[in-house]
This record gives sequence, C-alpha cells and structure tokens, in this order.
Amino acid sequence: MIPTLVVMATPRAESDSDPGTFWPNQDHWSVEIPLDTPHPRPAAIAAHGFVQLRDLSIIVPEAEYLGLEYMDWKSGGDTNFAPIATADGALDCRGFWSKENEHPDKDAMFTTNAQQCPTLRRYVDAVGANFGRVRTIKLEPQSHEAALRSFHRDDNNRFNPDDQGWVVRSWLELTDNPESYMLLMECGPDGLPDPATEVRVPLHRGAQFVVDTQRLWHVVVHKDPRPRYALISSFETGPALDAWIARELP
Ligand SMILES: [Fe+2]
Repeated sequence: MIPTLVVMATPRAESDSDPGTFWPNQDHWSVEIPLDTPHPRPAAIAAHGFVQLRDLSIIVPEAEYLGLEYMDWKSGGDTNFAPIATADGALDCRGFWSKENEHPDKDAMFTTNAQQCPTLRRYVDAVGANFGRVRTIKLEPQSHEAALRSFHRDDNNRFNPDDQGWVVRSWLELTDNPESYMLLMECGPDGLPDPATEVRVPLHRGAQFVVDTQRLWHVVVHKDPRPRYALISSFETGPALDAWIARELP
C-alpha cells in the first residue's frame, strides 16, 4: 500500500516571528524617505529616536475627543482623524505641502475642532514650540500581525530647510489601553526595520512620548475591542521643545 502524504493546514503561529507575517521590503515607500540630514534634532531622542515622558496628571474629558468632527483617513490601520490644527485651519487630513505650496509640517492654524477641546488646545499651546498637524486619532483594534502591514516611517520634513529644526511627533494617550503598544524599530543597514531594536511603548491613559517618526518605523498594535483615541502633534525641534521635554521627563 502506498502511504498517503497528508498535508495538514498549519495554523498560523501566534509568534511575532511567523514566517507568514508581512514584512516590508525594498519596494516599501518608507525606504525612500530621507534618514540622515543636517537638521538639528532634540538631544533627548538622540539615543533611541524617542523619549518617554511622565504620565499626564489630568484626565482629558471624553467630550474633548469623542465630540470632535472626524474624517475618514487611513494611516496606520483602520483610522479616523479629527484635525485640530492644519496648514490653513480648514478641516483637512492632508499633508502641508502641495504642488502650489511647498510648506513643511509646522506653522499650523487651529480648526473649528479646537473650540471643542480646550484642554487639548491648551496642552499644545503649553509646549511652546512651533506646531504642525495636530489631531486626535481613532484607531480600531488590530493585532500585531495586522499592524505590521501598516509599519512605516513618516515624511515629516519634506520641504523643511536644512538649517531649521527637525519635525518630530508627540503622543498623548486619551483612552486607557495598557495592553496596546506602539511598535518602534530603527532602520537596519538595508533601510528596513531592524527587529533587534524593537521597542514597545505602552498606551495607557495619560502616556506621553515624543517620537522621531521619520527615523523610526512605527505602528500601533491595539488589542482592546474598543477604539483607541490619542492626540498626535507635530512639533519643530528647538529650544522650546527641548525645554518642554525636560519639564515632562519622569
Ligand atoms: Fe506615521
């Protein structure tokens, strides 16, 4: 009797190193984004590309993020964004540059949403640095494997003159999702994410951190069944941002 070879469907492993898991390759658009430039960077993020700050001591009222006008804009998963500051104050999720106006991600103006979230507006103002895009994100749940499909680097400094401060991003977590995390990785020599440098930033309510999202590959793994909300702000590196980071260190 000839033995029958039975090929069993192998369940997808839970391991992050599952060979079937998506991983970016040289065709990924992030690989083309500049990494090394002359722009000044914050000293506090020089070592690792990000810095964890102390947790915010106040709770932002739910109405300040649930009651905003959200727009369907996919970035980093199943996301919607409520623009609080934009290039011209209009409710718009696009970048600050266009063919007609090559403007970097700073010098933003508050939108009508800003009137609905005075705590968040004061938070951004209190940093004291030149800010660009400010928005709240609503992120639907996504597993580690699903999130990797949205792993990317940001193009924050397009049209930013070399002698001006590097644009970085800050996060303030509005909902309490301690099991969720932002996955961060440095670029390896090939420009792709280097797993040896992996960091997971926990996303409990009040968590604050600053990330050089042009330097680090990043995405959020969100394990809670409810949406996660956070405030994301672009800030220009300089003495004001350095001073705010120093004030907010744990
Ligand atoms: Fe990003």
